[in-house]
Amino acid sequence: MSKAPWSIRRLRAVDDAQIDGLTDVLIDCVEGGASVSFMHPLSRERAAAFWRRVAHGVAAGERILLIAEDTQGLCGTVQLLLDLPENQPHRADLAKMLVHRRVRRQGLGVALLLAAEAAAREGGKTLLVLDAVTGGDGARLYERHGWQRVGDIPDYALWPRGGFCSTTVYYRNLKQA
Ligand SMILES: CC(C)(COP(=O)(O)OP(=O)(O)OC[C@H]1O[C@@H](n2cnc3c(N)ncnc32)[C@H](O)[C@@H]1OP(=O)(O)O)[C@@H](O)C(=O)NCCC(=O)NCCS
Repeated sequence: MSKAPWSIRRLRAVDDAQIDGLTDVLIDCVEGGASVSFMHPLSRERAAAFWRRVAHGVAAGERILLIAEDTQGLCGTVQLLLDLPENQPHRADLAKMLVHRRVRRQGLGVALLLAAEAAAREGGKTLLVLDAVTGGDGARLYERHGWQRVGDIPDYALWPRGGFCSTTVYYRNLKQA
């Protein structure tokens, strides 16, 4: 089997160059029409401010941040949110799974998903939860890889250029995986 054209690693601190690369990936996803919390057009300032908040969360141990890099730079990312109520120490939310359009449909999404699940297991987590646009690229990815569909919430969010989209909630029991 040929070697993957990217490598995935966990960042325990996030530097300015990485904020820049993460900003590029987020802006590319929003430009491509992904409903990932932001409206189009997303300025570099707003995108970078988001990643700086993420960086603070990483430094505080409230988030796990994984990045993927290839020869052209940062090309994908995913997070685990750990800052949950004290009665949910076994759980994390999976969030901001983003792959730059230039490397899509080559298996990076699934590689990031498996890496996030492995990081969650290492951290002692046994349950992961996420939400994804109903029937979207992310939803197909999660359903293919063992995530259980809970249900849909109509009109949950807006598409980046306007109009409501439905979200689907999923969970993954890592004890059974
Ligand atoms: C969802 C997302 C992360 C998937 O990333 P990706 O790297 O394209 O994911 P994968 O390559 O693992 O899988 C995507 C598709 O490519 C196919 N694929 C994977 N490797 C392939 C290969 N070597 N050759 C051909 N097709 C391949 C998969 O079967 C899958 O097909 P499907 O969508 O028809 O089911 C990406 O589309 C994205 O960032 N979207 C915008 C942000 C977003 O919506 N994130 C999800 C938030 S919940």
